Amino acid sequence: VTRRVPASGRRGAPAPAAPPLGTAEFDPSDPALVDNPYPTYARLRREAPVLYLPGHDVWIVSRYADVTSVLRDPATFSSAVGMSPDFGAGTGAATGIGYRFGGPDVRVLISMDPPDHLVFRRAVAGLFTPSSVAAAHGRAHALAAECVADLVRNAGSGQADFCADVAGPLPVLMLADLFGVPAAMRGEFRAWASVMSADLSRGGQPDDVGRGMAMFRYFDSELRKARNQPQRTLFGAIAAAQGKGPTHRELLAFCAFLLAAGLETTTNLLTNLLAALFEFPAVQERLRERPELIDDAVEEALRYDTSIQGLWRGTTRPVELGGQHIPASARMMVLFGSANRDERQFADPGRFLLGRDGNPHVGFGAGPHYCLGARLARLEVAAALRALLAATSWIEPAGDPERIDSVVLRGLTRQPVRVHPR
Ligand code: HEM
Repeated sequence: VTRRVPASGRRGAPAPAAPPLGTAEFDPSDPALVDNPYPTYARLRREAPVLYLPGHDVWIVSRYADVTSVLRDPATFSSAVGMSPDFGAGTGAATGIGYRFGGPDVRVLISMDPPDHLVFRRAVAGLFTPSSVAAAHGRAHALAAECVADLVRNAGSGQADFCADVAGPLPVLMLADLFGVPAAMRGEFRAWASVMSADLSRGGQPDDVGRGMAMFRYFDSELRKARNQPQRTLFGAIAAAQGKGPTHRELLAFCAFLLAAGLETTTNLLTNLLAALFEFPAVQERLRERPELIDDAVEEALRYDTSIQGLWRGTTRPVELGGQHIPASARMMVLFGSANRDERQFADPGRFLLGRDGNPHVGFGAGPHYCLGARLARLEVAAALRALLAATSWIEPAGDPERIDSVVLRGLTRQPVRVHPR
C-alpha cells in the first residue's frame, strides 16, 4: 500500500556536526529524514523554528509553543485553507478519495473551520464518549489477546511479524466491531481500510475507485438502516447526527474518513511503541514488573514517536510567528513530532520515560481539532501492550524492520520478532 524502505535502526543517533541549517535541509524525499527525523527537528527548533521551504512553498513550524499556538488559533491558521494529503501539493484543498467521492460540496471534519467545524463536531460528539469507549474495553482486550496469540503461534515457526499479526489487524477488527460489520464482511472492510489508509499517504488512485464505491454503497445502506432502527453501533451514533448540521452525504464521507483517520494511525503508533521497547529494554523490563504503567507507556509513545508527525494549516491573514512574517494564504506544516521533543517543554525529551510528571504531548493534536478518536486509540494500544506482556516473558527483534516512506505518517510496515512465551 505504502512505499516501504528499510529502517536503519539509527533512531536515537545524535545529529552529526553540520553547517548551519539551510532551507534545503528539510527534504521530504530524503531517506535519512524519513528514517530518523529527530536530529533534523532539533536543528530546526534551534536554528530555524519557523522555516520557509521555497521548493514546496510551505512554512515548517517546529517548536512546541508555536505548534500549539497555531493549533489553538483556527481563525488565523485555517484547516480549510491548508489541509491536503499530499506533501507540499499546495492545492489548498482536501483532495483525498474520501473527499472526492462525496463531491466538492461535501465537508470533512478535519478540513473545516469554525463556526461550521464546531457544529459538525458537536453533531458527531456521541461517537467515542467515555462510556461508549469503556463499553468496548472487554472487546478490545479480547481482540488484542487473539492477535497476540497469532503472533506467538507464528513465532513458533519463526514467522512472527508484529505489523502483520498485531498492529495491522487489531485497529481494523476493533473498528469493524464498533461499526457492527458482520464477520463475513471483515475481509471487505479490511480492503476498504487499506484503500483509505493509502489515500491518507498518497492520495486516491484510479484502482481504488471500484472499492471505494462499494464501501460508500455499504455505508449508505447501513446509515439508512440505523436511522430507521436506532442501534448502539458507530452507524447508530453517526446516523443520530443527521439533522444537526452534516448532510447525509457528509455523514457517508465521515464514515470513510474514520477509516483513514483511525486505522493506520493506530497501527503505526503500535509499531512505534514496540520499536521504543526495543530501543529501551529497561522500559520493557519495568512494564513487566509494573503493568500499571502501561497507560504511561502509551502516552509516552504518543510523545516520543507519534504516528502523525505533522499536518497542514493555511494562514487567513498575514501573521508573525517565531520572529517570521508569514503572508496570508501561506501553507504551513505543523510538526507534532518535533513539538513533542522540544527541550523547552519536556525534560530529557530524547528518552522514553515512564511516569513523567505531566505529559502534554501533541500526538493527538491540540485545540478544536484534537483527535476525536483519542480515547479509542489509547484503549487499543494499551490493550495490545497488556496482551503482549501477558503472553510473553520477552519480545525482541528477529530481523530488520521496514518503514513507511513518508515524513507525515511514521510507522513500520514490517517488524519480524522473536518472543519468549511464558
Ligand atoms: C494513535 C492513533 C491516532 C493518532 C496519533 C491520531 C492523531 C490525530 C491528530 C494529530 C489529529 C488532529 C488533526 C488536526 O489538528 O488537523 C486527529 C484528528 C482526528 N482523529 Fe485521530 N489519531 C489517532 C487515532 C484515531 C482514531 C482511532 C480515530 C477514530 C476511529 C480518529 C479520528 C479522528 C478524527 C475524526 C479527527 C478529526 C477531528 C477534528 O477535525 O475535529 N483518530 N487525530
